[in-house]
Amino acid sequence: MPKIVTLPGDGIGPEVTAAAVQVLREVAPDVTIEEHLIGGVAYDTHGDPFPQPTRDALANADAVLLGTVGGAQDSAWNLLPRHLRPESGLLALRKALGCYANLRPVRVQPGLEHLSPLKAELARGVDILIVRELLGGVYFDGDRKIDGDTAYNTMRYTTPEVERVAKVAFWAAEQRRGRVTSVDKANVLEVSELWRRDVTALRDRDYRGIHLNHEYVDSVAMLIVSDPSRYDVIVTENLFGDILSDLAAVIPGSLGLMPSASLGDGAGLFEPIHGSAPDIAGKGIANPAAAIMSAGMLLRHGLKRPDAANRIDRAVALALRAQPTRDLGGAADTQTFTRAVLSALESS
Ligand code: NAI
Ligand code: MG
Repeated sequence: MPKIVTLPGDGIGPEVTAAAVQVLREVAPDVTIEEHLIGGVAYDTHGDPFPQPTRDALANADAVLLGTVGGAQDSAWNLLPRHLRPESGLLALRKALGCYANLRPVRVQPGLEHLSPLKAELARGVDILIVRELLGGVYFDGDRKIDGDTAYNTMRYTTPEVERVAKVAFWAAEQRRGRVTSVDKANVLEVSELWRRDVTALRDRDYRGIHLNHEYVDSVAMLIVSDPSRYDVIVTENLFGDILSDLAAVIPGSLGLMPSASLGDGAGLFEPIHGSAPDIAGKGIANPAAAIMSAGMLLRHGLKRPDAANRIDRAVALALRAQPTRDLGGAADTQTFTRAVLSALESS
């Protein structure tokens, strides 16, 4: 029996995670779900934002469903030393799981195009999956220093690091429209030259059915908001992926519609991209769609149950039209929306 660890965390985390758990129980009743602490609540209970009982629970977990961590700006947590703050718990968790591929779907839900900051005609039909390398590149590896008026960081990648994340992108493209755009800056960066060479070699060796093209990151920054429907799967290194995925997040129209997955060799981590929303926490009005869709990604990528994942995606799309939440200009609260998802599931 697969085991899922849930880490609801702080703010609206527990509210949206509870909704996602209700949906999981409906579509995967055989799965064991075990709840643990992370973030500010974990610090309050154990004096540690990523406490030992939580670490222990991950050892035999098949997947992790995370809510959100962090407090309001004036929260006492923000006065703690950095390593005890809620966000440190999340960084430690990501590191412990060794997830090297971050997946962010960017999809405009049919019928919600008018809510997007983009013109409806641009937003229509957008369905992109951004695959960002998460453990290498300039954020992690290599030499770094600040010394007087000079500072440097080193951007470094190895062939195995490029290949393992590219495999995730090719695999995902096989389940989708079969197209991968690899994003780099190969006209100026040696790292990008290696990246481009290795991605191409992997496609030629193992994924001949995939259509692969290469684009420069500056050009993609423009095209991803001016012509987003041209993309299927985008794969890129850590720094470029960080910026492009935040940029693309404007397309769906609300943070409450953006799920994510982080995959490695062990248990994957599934979480909405939004934060703990202290301004609406405790009011029962948070949009749980991103958390519920993250549970869908958990079933698809973590437990390899695409049918159950597809059921969730269809139910969320129906619920968004029947009971739009407040962030989308509707009136539904968290419970009302979740009930709409559950009833769409019952009739599917
Ligand atoms: P935020 O994402 O929490 O909120 C930004 C705005 O979006 C707020 O007005 C909020 O009400 C709204 N919003 C976010 N999610 C929503 C949802 N599901 N339904 C309806 N409205 C939603 O970002 P903010 O305010 O910058 O950060 C608040 C706290 O969250 C901070 O402590 C920050 O460090 C933490 N944070 C945690 C993340 C995580 O756990 N992965 C990611 C981003 C921020
Ligand atoms: Mg970012």
